[in-house]
Amino acid sequence: MKNKKILITGGAGFIGCHLVKLMVNKYSNYEIYNLDALTYAGNIENLKDVANKSNYHFIKGNIQDGAFLKKLFKEHQFDSVIHLAAESHVDRSILSPMDFIMTNIVGTVNLLEAAKENWTSFDEKLFYHVSTDEVYGSLGEEGLFTETTPYSPRSPYSASKASSDHLVMAYHHTYGLPIVMSNCSNNYGPYQFPEKLLPLFINNIKNNKPLPVYGDGNYTRDWLWVKDHAKAIDVVFHEGKLGETYNVGGHNEWKNIDFVNLLCETMDELLGREKGSSAKLITFVKDRPGHDLRYAIDATKIKNELNWEPSIQTKEGLKLTAQWYLENESWLENITSGAYLDYYKKQYS
Ligand code: NAD
Ligand code: TYD
Repeated sequence: MKNKKILITGGAGFIGCHLVKLMVNKYSNYEIYNLDALTYAGNIENLKDVANKSNYHFIKGNIQDGAFLKKLFKEHQFDSVIHLAAESHVDRSILSPMDFIMTNIVGTVNLLEAAKENWTSFDEKLFYHVSTDEVYGSLGEEGLFTETTPYSPRSPYSASKASSDHLVMAYHHTYGLPIVMSNCSNNYGPYQFPEKLLPLFINNIKNNKPLPVYGDGNYTRDWLWVKDHAKAIDVVFHEGKLGETYNVGGHNEWKNIDFVNLLCETMDELLGREKGSSAKLITFVKDRPGHDLRYAIDATKIKNELNWEPSIQTKEGLKLTAQWYLENESWLENITSGAYLDYYKKQYS
């Protein structure tokens, strides 16, 4: 395996921290540079296991700053980029779309520009863009998203990610920038910021607080264990074909209400509470505006071409996840003591 100098953006976030740890530990001959602005969603504590490794480097910086990125590329001469930094929460995108435009679209173009300008030759270079299945829009009761499903984003978040995907493809077609991309379903697991469904509900159950299920809860998501996503990124990074997109999914479709009920049963068991007590916290609240009905991934391409498959199913992964948040109380407490609570007060008042 050749030596590489890889810039990973957003490595202090949920998926990024799993990916950084995988790459630092698995490839001691790679230099991993984690560039992260440490927004509310970024937490340097997530990386304490690798903080002292000699092939790991942290850079605090914002991808919205194009001049800074150009300087950074000049200084470090990265040969690859794995781009995860983003504003990632749909509800926040509904409240403040501009942050999503600035980071997800402008930030991505800044990175593309820095790479294009710095890479005088594109040999042995790669720009890997990590994206979401939400760019494909919303499915009805039937069907799956494939790599050729037309884009039809419907939230400011998914529209900003779709724009960034198109721009990455445009840089490939127009300038020949060597790119690869993946579009993944909903991730779950340790270190997810507790505004997303699963960690929010785990924390609320622990504290006997209501579980705000949007609408009637009959919305479907396809859940993927975050470490399986990190492994998929590793595979696509090393073996993906230039200019191609790979859908990454869990084959684990759940209606929100069924998923929440399964979580409640798991939490009753783990907390030694009477069966049915967590489910009593379920509270149906006002629906998310423009709520996408169903996401589901056809992951045949990545399975057939790159031999990647999810390693665990939801029931097992959900239990591991719940256990992790219960065992890492101080992580949860530190992260929930910040300003994000004000945001929730605003949304549910
Ligand atoms: P996250 O919100 O947990 O983490 C995002 C990270 O990016 C944080 O560490 C944050 O500090 C950093 N960041 C944000 N704005 C930045 C900026 N302007 N400059 C530098 N760093 C910045 O997100 P996540 O869930 O880990 O998602 C990572 C990527 O994967 C995103 O691109 C997201 O669209 C994509 N994705 C997420 C999911 C999911 O279920 N979470 C599914 C598919 C794809
Ligand atoms: P979320 O974790 O925000 O991911 P995404 O919107 O990217 O799919 O939400 C997952 C599903 O759970 C989605 O259908 C919205 C729903 N949801 C609730 O019902 N209540 C909540 O408090 C949250 C955060 C989400």
